Amino acid sequence: MPTITIDGKALEFDQGQSILEVAHDNGLKIPHYCYHPSLSVVANCRICLAEVWAPNPRNDNKLEPLPKLLPTCQEPARDGQVVYTSSPKATANQKAVMEMLLNHHPIDCPTCDQAGECNLQDFAYEYGRGVRRHDAEKITQSKKDIGDNVMLYGDRCIMCTRCVRFADEISGTSELFIDGRGAKEYIDVFPGIGINNELSGNVIDICPVGAMLDKDFMFQQPVWFLKTAPSIDPLTSSGDNIMIEHNKNKVYRVKPRKNLEINQYWITDEVRYGWKFVHDESRVTEMNEDAELVAADKLQQATKIALLVSPMISCEDAWLLSQLVRSIDSDGIIGIGPVSVVGEDKTFKSGFTMRNEKAPNARGVRRAIGDVLEYEEWKKQVSGVDTVVVTGNYPEAWDTPAISDSQTLILIDTLANNLTQRADAFLPAATWAEKAGTFENYDNKLQLFERAIHPLGDSQAEGQIAMNLQAIVGDMESTVFNAATVRRRMADAGVAGMLDVEPPQNTNRVDTDMPLSEV
Ligand code: SF4
Ligand code: FES
Repeated sequence: MPTITIDGKALEFDQGQSILEVAHDNGLKIPHYCYHPSLSVVANCRICLAEVWAPNPRNDNKLEPLPKLLPTCQEPARDGQVVYTSSPKATANQKAVMEMLLNHHPIDCPTCDQAGECNLQDFAYEYGRGVRRHDAEKITQSKKDIGDNVMLYGDRCIMCTRCVRFADEISGTSELFIDGRGAKEYIDVFPGIGINNELSGNVIDICPVGAMLDKDFMFQQPVWFLKTAPSIDPLTSSGDNIMIEHNKNKVYRVKPRKNLEINQYWITDEVRYGWKFVHDESRVTEMNEDAELVAADKLQQATKIALLVSPMISCEDAWLLSQLVRSIDSDGIIGIGPVSVVGEDKTFKSGFTMRNEKAPNARGVRRAIGDVLEYEEWKKQVSGVDTVVVTGNYPEAWDTPAISDSQTLILIDTLANNLTQRADAFLPAATWAEKAGTFENYDNKLQLFERAIHPLGDSQAEGQIAMNLQAIVGDMESTVFNAATVRRRMADAGVAGMLDVEPPQNTNRVDTDMPLSEV
């Protein structure tokens, strides 16, 4: 295998990899702004330049320095090369690039949302000069509202063109372009056309500085207050990997989590902003003190039970509910709630696909329960039972089933709807952000998601509710819901795949390296 030496480390590489890619694959850091692994290489920011020595075939393959520094993001790694990213020449370039970028930058970090996760800040600290020598007036640019979700702070832009390339190469919508020339060039949208494609929020993530900002998150929280939990798209069948960012038991934003097999680096705006129902005003999180006792009593008195399991809940929750009902009525009628399909799947230029199935776990519910009726069939059969258990957990109003006055209704749901007041027992359910579990995506991939925040109010995971009711019915101590334990029980009961669930990858959890000082 060919070998390259970077900063004293001999590294094997695959033909076609750039020097920067080889370095990053091996845990060596080279600063970069314009490079992004899924975008074309333009090599315009120049911070990644390094000193490269290579064997010269015209001089007995002796190592000789190449005359100029080379952009490591663009330069293919070659066998025998020796690269220095912190030699005096390379360091001088890094300092010069940082100095140039900061000449016209407003340095408004205290009021910038990107502070704390800004490459300009980080690289100024690691590679910058620390003093300002340029005393000419700064070129200023306007702040501009360029889309439903995106605000452009032109002053802060370093013209890396990642956002323009994203709109050209990933979404294929090309709303962004570079106007002007030289020091006066700037990013803009075409007149009358905002960046409002379904992937628009991703330009906020890939902007390495605070130029593209998320209107929804603006001035909400300093990013260093946020804690993160790896999770999965709770709204569609995509299985897109996400990170829930939260503080003090409140969700503040959702970001994509890299998974090259599923969502690459991206999520749709639908997923990015679709978490708002977690804290929605119409959420019902209070439970009557005796609601669980009433529900358990009604189940014990039932002669025939129907259970509707929502495709919005996890495999573990679905299985525990079905076990509860089958333990009381082995012929219980179990169906899956409505699975909404909106239009067609939409595939973007890069191959990223937005799924039209607006439920995260229809396949997982069918897998967990086995013999399950589709919603229309379940609705036909439900009139013949005396007790109905309904789960919802949809992010908005949903097509609730008709329950007659003579039937007992136990409702386990999140947002208020026409059944909430009607229910004989209402048990508030925790949303996906408040519990752990497994979703199965359109491609039958089972993936874990972790709990981000504690359940709000009296709400509980549907699985915990099922365990509590089972304990009351069986006159036992209730146990605490643990998704891993439930998966083990499911596997023992013959549910396929539950021990091969994929744990979260690329969680980007970074331990602080800040030393604690003794006082
Ligand atoms: S707005 Fe951000 S992503 Fe776009 S060119 Fe400027 S710095 Fe790069
Ligand atoms: S990252 Fe190489 S030139 Fe920008």
